[in-house]
Amino acid sequence: MKAELLYEGKAKQVYRLEGTMDQLVLSYKNDATAFNGKKKESFDGKGRLNNEISSRIFSFLHDKGIETHFIEKWNENEQIVQQTEIIPLEVVVRNLATGSITKRLGIEENTPFDPPIVELFFKDDELNDPLINDEHALFLSSVTESELQEIKEKALKINVALTELFQSINISLVDFKLEFGRLACGSIVLADEISPDTCRLWDLNTQEKMDKDVFRQGTGDLIEVYNVILQRLEDLS
Ligand code: TMP
Repeated sequence: MKAELLYEGKAKQVYRLEGTMDQLVLSYKNDATAFNGKKKESFDGKGRLNNEISSRIFSFLHDKGIETHFIEKWNENEQIVQQTEIIPLEVVVRNLATGSITKRLGIEENTPFDPPIVELFFKDDELNDPLINDEHALFLSSVTESELQEIKEKALKINVALTELFQSINISLVDFKLEFGRLACGSIVLADEISPDTCRLWDLNTQEKMDKDVFRQGTGDLIEVYNVILQRLEDLS
């Protein structure tokens, strides 16, 4: 059973799991938002798809030795996770130039990044999640210098594992956003979700966009492309 609602974000609600001190229920909503909530729409089935996709990806990362908050998928729209204190950083890894970096730095679309580029954004809706540097991150969050290095190294390790996973289902992992959280014991683990809401996923053969950009840009059917991602992941197992 769920206990009280602790937090509601744009795409998920967070409840305490009854009978536990340190476990949460992440409840995936059908809402999609873009441009910091300025564009909003609800899609039947989106919560189920992201719950299922993120559960599979977190299980995959666990098997690769990456520590995460994920415990188990609970039901269609919900999963159980270890409680963490979310570190207010959005850690973006980029393999190919698109999105905000192309405009910000005048980099040509589709330019490959080898090695991949890691960027930090301050997770603050009121400020529009600004790009920050390491010194800002140390000032604005509880992480130490060595923890910040650890977070970046983990992000790159996750990039290697996920690039391989998506390649095996004929998808190019263009870029993605991660969030990390601190467990009660003090250690930092991967938290939040990894789904087509938080990644750019392009079909390797057709270059078709299979992620939330179809909603951001109004170029396709979100449920249709998320379904394809889940179907291909299911076909792997
Ligand atoms: P960007 O190019 O807009 O900075 O996005 C980089 C990656 O981060 C992309 O995969 C989409 C993801 N992302 C989120 O998960 N949440 C956000 O709020 C934004 C702006 C991007």
